[in-house]
Amino acid sequence: MKQSSRLFERAQAVIPGGVNSPVRAFNAVGGNPVYVRSGRGSKIVTVEGRELVDFCGSWGPLILGHARPEVVEAIAAAARDGTTFGINTPREVEFAELLCAQVPSMKQVRLVSSGTEAVMTALRLARGFTGRRRIVKFDGGYHGHSDGLLAGAGSGLLTGGISSSAGVFINEGDVFLPAYNDKEAVSEIVNRYGDELAAIIVEPVAGNMGLVAPQDGFLEHLRAEAARCGALLIFDEVITGFRFAPTTYGALAGITPDITCLGKIIGGGMPLAALGGRRDIMQCLAPCGSVYQAGTLSGNPVAVAAGMKTIELLIAENPYPSLAELGAELAVKVNDAAVAKGLPLHVAKMGGVFTVFFRRNPVRNLDETKECDTAAYAEFFNRMLERGYYLPPSQFEAAFISAAHSRKEVMGFAAAVQEAVQ
Ligand SMILES: Cc1ncc(COP(=O)(O)O)c(C=O)c1O
Repeated sequence: MKQSSRLFERAQAVIPGGVNSPVRAFNAVGGNPVYVRSGRGSKIVTVEGRELVDFCGSWGPLILGHARPEVVEAIAAAARDGTTFGINTPREVEFAELLCAQVPSMKQVRLVSSGTEAVMTALRLARGFTGRRRIVKFDGGYHGHSDGLLAGAGSGLLTGGISSSAGVFINEGDVFLPAYNDKEAVSEIVNRYGDELAAIIVEPVAGNMGLVAPQDGFLEHLRAEAARCGALLIFDEVITGFRFAPTTYGALAGITPDITCLGKIIGGGMPLAALGGRRDIMQCLAPCGSVYQAGTLSGNPVAVAAGMKTIELLIAENPYPSLAELGAELAVKVNDAAVAKGLPLHVAKMGGVFTVFFRRNPVRNLDETKECDTAAYAEFFNRMLERGYYLPPSQFEAAFISAAHSRKEVMGFAAAVQEAVQ
């Protein structure tokens, strides 16, 4: 029996489903989950000693690749000085200054430990600031697993959100779920319920139904509609922050949200996330305001050291043009072959982020993503795994090229995609 199978068996006895985050169970792609021994640069090594080129990148944080030496050294150095104090440290101040300098819409920032916590706090803050309860989130948008944001699929426009998890009770009408990219739906909700809306929350580039780009004018429309009704616009940039430039997607697009949530990249592979935005809004957080938020490990010195070093390296090395070039080359190569050979798929990409969608036409929202052939994706995932490539184990996720991937690896991947789908 393979070591990973044995580990999974043991895990299932003591961990629900054998995993500490559901998608790692491989339910969407079948087969036994991979167990990793180590990672370096673009590659991971399984417990069986197989080397895989990793395009999952821990779901996004590893824009510099695995175990980048400078980041590891920053972590080790910080840890040698003490792993946690629950007391303020100078590096938190420097890090907050760095984030505010890189993201002009962030006048103040609060550090937390996960994307879930950042978005949960942003939502509480929006409700506290506006004194309103209802929110607009987009169908298929994922904002972590806090109760208020687990309204998911199945609910139509202008009906109350329905929770996509047992144990979560969302009041009828608390969460509206228009389709991503549907401007008219948002206007309709604002027309009817505008004075009760606390926030419009959106991933400016959707990354949790596969990669789905905003259509022209969509984000501008959200900005205008939020302003029209006095709701706050929250950009969840947990995936997109520092992804396409050493700043947010909002800053690149020239759109100013009221609150931005960051995670993944800004933690450099450690548990660190943040929310920031307008000073008058951020001032509502305790201890200066009445919206409560706290954390034993918030602003943890080891995590901050990893995040700081990562951002410094991103600024110094500017890997973004080359990530975008590799992403574009990959998409062209696969998409041209798909058209020429009549393959039922296409690659959506932005910068170094991509999704291989098992559907011929581009995707604009969750309903269209759901038309993808998920069984074909599952088979594709496993064929790619056989060929030495690790992808996200679900059709509805984004894959990531890191600065550690060589052109040869990305082109090898593109060739393997064509081979795998024949
Ligand atoms: C856009 C977005 N927001 C929030 C989260 C939650 O972040 P975390 O898993 O760190 O809690 C994620 C996680 O994938 C995400 O993609």
